[in-house]
Amino acid sequence: MIIHFTGTGNSYQLARVIADETGDQLLSLIDRLREHDTSAIRSDRPLVFVTPIYCGRIPRVVEEHIRATEFLGTTEVYFVATCFQTPYRARHYVERLCADKGWTLKGFDAVPMPQNYVVMYETPTPEQAKAVIETAVPTMHAFGRAIRDGKVLDGGKKGGAMMSDVINPVFYKTTINAKGFRTTDACVGCGTCARACPLDNIRMVDGRPVWGGSCTHCMACIDGCPSKAIEFKDKTVGRSRYWNPSYSVRHDAARPSEG
Ligand SMILES: Cc1cc2nc3c(=O)[nH]c(=O)nc-3n(C[C@H](O)[C@H](O)[C@H](O)COP(=O)(O)O)c2cc1C
Ligand code: SF4
Ligand code: SF4
Repeated sequence: MIIHFTGTGNSYQLARVIADETGDQLLSLIDRLREHDTSAIRSDRPLVFVTPIYCGRIPRVVEEHIRATEFLGTTEVYFVATCFQTPYRARHYVERLCADKGWTLKGFDAVPMPQNYVVMYETPTPEQAKAVIETAVPTMHAFGRAIRDGKVLDGGKKGGAMMSDVINPVFYKTTINAKGFRTTDACVGCGTCARACPLDNIRMVDGRPVWGGSCTHCMACIDGCPSKAIEFKDKTVGRSRYWNPSYSVRHDAARPSEG
């Protein structure tokens, strides 16, 4: 079973490619997070968790959800991630999680994909993003084939303690929150941002989004706004917005995980 979380679609694309190679069933963590659903999950095939990398670890909401959920059946798991550059020491934290869950980690690896963290960095133009994705797709298929064949994935062993061990906890405490989001006059009140938020952290009030207190900086709202009407303080003004082109349903009533 492939259990996936995504903000802007990169990890969703990876999950889909792995499903194509393995034939495994896809399960969205976004639906479960939005519904606070921690009911037990059964799988007799290895569990494959697919997530982005946030500050050198898997997203905290994902780790917390996994810890809160009982998994029945298999004890073999893979973690595969998308990142911009490096997962740093995410593997170490995944190994710790697996030990706590009584799981055998069959593999960890990450594939570089376009940068989505517009709040902190410049994001690529569509042409730049296309080139990065084209380079990544063969790696995604290789991950999928390795998982299908029960092979070990041996990535993420290069370290990166400063980001994963030191910066990550400080960053979550000081920066990962929704306080800086605001809308501009370009907002047309479509509600896409509210539907897209994996934590159901956005309410529409008088036709405008209002952000609540739980935010994991996934960037789905700001990168996915069809009118580019969301800014984060003044840091994002003038930056392009990134959205994975294969993740196509953000403008529909359906949640992104259904695309
Ligand atoms: C809060 C946040 C933190 C990030 N930290 C890292 C990081 O430590 N290393 C890295 O290479 N990319 C980092 N990125 C980039 C994303 O991991 C990358 O763009 C990923 O493919 C986004 O996946 P998604 O489209 O499935 O949400 C970060 C992005 C966000 C939003
Ligand atoms: S997605 Fe953009 S335009 Fe639509 S309600 Fe949200 S901020 Fe406004
Ligand atoms: S408020 Fe925006 S950035 Fe925060 S979790 Fe929701 S969609 Fe992601």
